[in-house]
Amino acid sequence: MKLRPIEWLVFACAATAFTLALANLGREAAVFMVARRGPYDLETREAGVKVLDLFCGAGGAAMGLHRAWPEAEIVGVDIAPQKHYPFEFRLADATSYPLEGFQFIWASPPCQDHMQTPHRKHGTGWMLPKTRERLVGADCHWAIENVEGAPLRPDYILCGCQFGLPNLRRVRWFETSWNGFSLLHTHNHEAQCISVVGRGTPSWVRKKLGRRCPSIHEYRAAMGIDWMNRYELSQAIPPAYSEFIGRAALKVMAPMA
Ligand SMILES: C[S@@+](CC[C@H](N)C(=O)[O-])C[C@H]1O[C@@H](n2cnc3c(N)ncnc32)[C@H](O)[C@@H]1O
Repeated sequence: MKLRPIEWLVFACAATAFTLALANLGREAAVFMVARRGPYDLETREAGVKVLDLFCGAGGAAMGLHRAWPEAEIVGVDIAPQKHYPFEFRLADATSYPLEGFQFIWASPPCQDHMQTPHRKHGTGWMLPKTRERLVGADCHWAIENVEGAPLRPDYILCGCQFGLPNLRRVRWFETSWNGFSLLHTHNHEAQCISVVGRGTPSWVRKKLGRRCPSIHEYRAAMGIDWMNRYELSQAIPPAYSEFIGRAALKVMAPMA
């Protein structure tokens, strides 16, 4: 049987679609099997799963991980006291804190030196590469979070508008030990956004909004966080981001040896 060019084209498209569907099915099955195998289960405390939250701040990232893995034990480490941190807290230097004994490590090194807007450097930029170097050598899965443009591989690029936080334009990059990726829609803001930075409302925001400036309640609602003060909010990521990453991690966690 001789096929016309248009028939060849239709045949080639159908064959490609079929191959892609099969490949995706195989990948999903492999991920599912790895996730379900063995006693390693982040959702049960019996498994003794411990999560280390480096540079923990007041716990925005930690709260999302808790939501993804309700029974996991979370230990936060920060160089400054964090009286609002909602889990176990250690006052220590995260750049040298021991990594052994944890099955997952989250790290949010200071972002000030990686921000694209011009401002005074804080001298903390070295903490990100140093942290990545330590995590790559650790015997567990991990995720590092930072601002857009920071020197890390952006496996996930997340913003508030992708998580039902339409007033929040807060793009963050995440590098993960599992080279993750997501098929979330790109971010798009139609509503007026709140800028959650600094200790007060920036003057340009005040100018833009006229006399009405957002209240702390509005800042909290924008971030999906109800336990932080204004400064802590400015440092945090919305729990929705880390919950999303935590759920992605669940799919790739290897069984305990
Ligand atoms: C971006 S904030 C963390 C925000 C947090 N992940 C959240 O979602 O709420 C960075 C934190 O790093 C802390 N920090 C700075 N240098 C540190 C160090 N050497 N060791 C531990 N924490 C440090 C700061 O005190 C600050 O709380």
